[in-house]
Amino acid sequence: MANLYDGKMAAIYDAMYQTFVNYDEEYTFYNNLIQENNGAATLEIGSGTGNLAKRFEANKQNYLGLDYSADMIAIAKQRNKNSSFIQGDMRDFKLDKPVDSILITGRSTSYLISNDDINRTFESVYKNLTQDGVFIFDFIDANRFIPFTKNNPVIVHEAEFENINYIRESHWDTNNSLENFMLEWTAQYYTIINGEKEIIENDFSTVRVFTLNEIELFLYLNNFEILKTIDRKTYAYDTYVIVAKKIS
Ligand SMILES: C[S@@+](CC[C@H](N)C(=O)[O-])C[C@H]1O[C@@H](n2cnc3c(N)ncnc32)[C@H](O)[C@@H]1O
Repeated sequence: MANLYDGKMAAIYDAMYQTFVNYDEEYTFYNNLIQENNGAATLEIGSGTGNLAKRFEANKQNYLGLDYSADMIAIAKQRNKNSSFIQGDMRDFKLDKPVDSILITGRSTSYLISNDDINRTFESVYKNLTQDGVFIFDFIDANRFIPFTKNNPVIVHEAEFENINYIRESHWDTNNSLENFMLEWTAQYYTIINGEKEIIENDFSTVRVFTLNEIELFLYLNNFEILKTIDRKTYAYDTYVIVAKKIS
C-alpha cells in the first residue's frame, strides 16, 4: 500500500489535485450515470479529501465516502461537515445497509495490484449493492498508458493553490519485470519560493494499469454485466469508465 495519502502527503495531494481535476465536471459526469440508473444512495470508494462529496452534500444527496487513509478522511470530514465517511479497505468492507450505486473514481483502481485484490474488491462491491444496484468505476488503459510512459519518462505537473506554486515531477518505470502490468511510480514534489525550487516530499508507490479485456473478464467472473463502457480522457491519463450491474 502506498504512503502517498498519509500525513503531510494528504494535504499536498489535496492542494495539487484541486488544480488538476475539475471536480464540478467530475461530479456532473458521475452523477449523470447514477441518475440514469435511478441511484438514490451512493457509496464513493477512495473518497479522498472529499471533493466529490462536497458536490453530493451541496445537492443534499444520500452519500457515504470510504477511504483507507485516516488522513484523507480527516480532510474530507473538515470539508464536509454533514457527510459521512468511513475508514475501510475496498477489498473487504461491509456497510450497515446496501446502497444503489458504488463509485470508484479518480483512478483509485490503480492500487488493486494483484488479481486477488481485484476479485476481493468486486466481491465486496457486489455484496454491498442493492438488487438493481450499479457499480461505476474508472481505470487507466494499459494499451495507451504504457506507450505514453515510454515516450515521456518524466512527467511534470505544475499547480498553483492558495498562492503557493507546486511542481510534481513523476516517473513511471516500465521495466517489464513486474507482474500484471504493474508500474513503479516515483515522484518529487517541490514548492517554488522566490524562484527557487525546494523539495517538499518524495513519494513512491506501485500501481497497476489494466486492459479493457482484463476488466471485462474480472467483471464476468464476479457476476456483473456491463451496461456501458466510456472512453474518457482525464488530466493526464486515458481511462475507461465502466457502468455494470449485478447479475443475480
Ligand atoms: C488517486 S486518490 C483519488 C481520490 C479521489 N477519488 C479524487 O478523485 O480526488 C486514491 C484514493 O484511494 C484511496 N485508497 C487506496 N487504496 C485503497 C483501498 N484499498 N481501500 C480504500 N481506499 C483506498 C487512497 O487513500 C486515496 O484517497
